[in-house]
Amino acid sequence: MTAAWNADRARAIIDNHRGLRGALLPILHAVQEEFGYVDAAAIPLLAEALNLSQADVHGVISFYHEFRHTRPGRHVVKICVAEACQARGSAALVDYLKTKLGIGLGETAADGSFTLEAVYCLGNCALGPSAQVDERLLGRLSPARIDGALA
Ligand code: FES
Repeated sequence: MTAAWNADRARAIIDNHRGLRGALLPILHAVQEEFGYVDAAAIPLLAEALNLSQADVHGVISFYHEFRHTRPGRHVVKICVAEACQARGSAALVDYLKTKLGIGLGETAADGSFTLEAVYCLGNCALGPSAQVDERLLGRLSPARIDGALA
């Protein structure tokens, strides 16, 4: 479970990483790991700490699809839509998940239960189609196996 957004905690994370070369990306990953997303309020903190413009920070967050802009659901389902998994039927699984969860890619269910995300390779290509449910990597997926994982 991730923590609620807290500016003081975010400042501490920034201070712990700001000395790294190319510190912005490691900080963004650490912030997302802590809170589950990168709150917009982190942008001015990052800009000031790293001597960047807020537009620069925003641009990096927007460029990398792995950074979320809103708090995710209690469970995050990442379905691989890269080439090898596409060839093994991931598009049909995406449709299945959209219908089952009632949300689109990049969306969170209104009750906060699930977030559905597309990813571009989970390093499990030979066993595709692949997905990750929270920390659990799944391969050779079918609707029945997904149902089992979500239950
Ligand atoms: S292409 Fe899906 S895991 Fe690599």
